[in-house]
Amino acid sequence: MENKNTDPKEVYTEYNEKFDKKLMIDHDYDGIKELDNPPPPWLMWLFYFTVIWSVWYLAWFHWFDMGRLQEADYAHELEEAAEKYKVTAMDEETINILTAEEDLNRGSEIYKKSCVACHGDAGQGGIGPNLKDADWIYGSEIKDVFGVIKNGTDKGMTSFKSLGDEDILKVSSYVLKKL
Ligand code: HEC
Repeated sequence: MENKNTDPKEVYTEYNEKFDKKLMIDHDYDGIKELDNPPPPWLMWLFYFTVIWSVWYLAWFHWFDMGRLQEADYAHELEEAAEKYKVTAMDEETINILTAEEDLNRGSEIYKKSCVACHGDAGQGGIGPNLKDADWIYGSEIKDVFGVIKNGTDKGMTSFKSLGDEDILKVSSYVLKKL
């Protein structure tokens, strides 16, 4: 290189002339100067994009309420799950015993799977009390039986809440109708 110039000011002046560009900004603060040296275009475009995106986001979610924010989305998913798994709670005071054969069959299925171990295959009792006779510790009405199966007792009867109210009602009906 022929250029032996080491004074930065002159180097910049040369550069500006050569590329017909003004690299040094005129602004001078106590001798400190600033270069006109913006970030590369792709970075600037990324930045503009985030600005536009934020305005869109504000409008979509907050001004016009078009989208669902986290909380609303969560509530929506719970609703969908409740619909899908039918976990809507039944009111124990107003439930009625089921008599349809298919409901009682379903009740029988559940009984065979979850209850025989303690109450015997015909409800004759074992670890748990007899469910055939007319003696009831907690009452013989559908709501009593439903309540015991759903909530369990502290003397050894497990809570079967996880069955869901519909299945609890079916097995309760089975116990009362068929055993
Ligand atoms: C781990 C053993 C066990 C299993 C499994 C079990 N039970 Fe029980 N169950 C008991 C015991 C023990 C009692 C008595 C609880 C008490 O006295 O508080 C009882 C009480 C009951 C009662 C109340 C009886 C009364 O005289 O009031 C009903 C109804 C009943 N169970 C139904 C069921 C059904 C239906 C299932 C299956 C979904 C089931 N149980 C599964 C142990 C069990």
